[in-house]
Amino acid sequence: MSAARAWRAMSVPMIALAVAGAVCGSAHAAAAYRPRIDYQLNCQGCHLADGSGEAGRVPSVRRMLVPFAEDPAGRRYLIQVPGVSESSLSDRATAAVLNWMVHRLSDVPVPRNFVPFTTAEVARWRRIPLTNVAATRARVQRQIDAHRSSRARSTASRSTDKSPM
Ligand code: HEC
Repeated sequence: MSAARAWRAMSVPMIALAVAGAVCGSAHAAAAYRPRIDYQLNCQGCHLADGSGEAGRVPSVRRMLVPFAEDPAGRRYLIQVPGVSESSLSDRATAAVLNWMVHRLSDVPVPRNFVPFTTAEVARWRRIPLTNVAATRARVQRQIDAHRSSRARSTASRSTDKSPM
């Protein structure tokens, strides 16, 4: 196959990747570029470009990412939810996509002391499947809400809480 035909035969995402490989000379630029492409290729089809999902079918991640990422059980859920744990992305790429999502798709401000997802963390949890996704999510959400209201009681500063979810 000629180079021109091979190029034409490529899908749009593949061309994007090829161009990215050619353009992103520096490792730093590639590191920032990669999770966005991984999200576009592996997640965006269901979650949409802005993470808002589709009512009744795919939940919006925009308000849940930060509160879940700040809670140990929430972090496990984010790694174990099937769309994440069963993707073909490596553990490293998965950690990078989750961090990218937290920084790019969250309506809730990312705290300064946000602890990024690591390859080791993804490796530890993704292979332990969730037996009941909805039940686990509901339990984690209740736990996050309980922690939040006990924090709010102890600081008596409910008005500063910007994430009602
Ligand atoms: C085929 C559609 C589909 C794809 C592809 C997909 N997801 Fe999902 N995702 C869902 C659905 C549906 C849910 C709701 C939980 C469930 O039923 O698994 C979900 C849940 C989630 C959640 C938790 C949201 C919540 O509020 O509980 C996160 C985070 C997430 N997906 C991230 C990703 C990432 C990252 C990728 C790509 C690596 C991805 N998903 C790929 C459909 C998809």
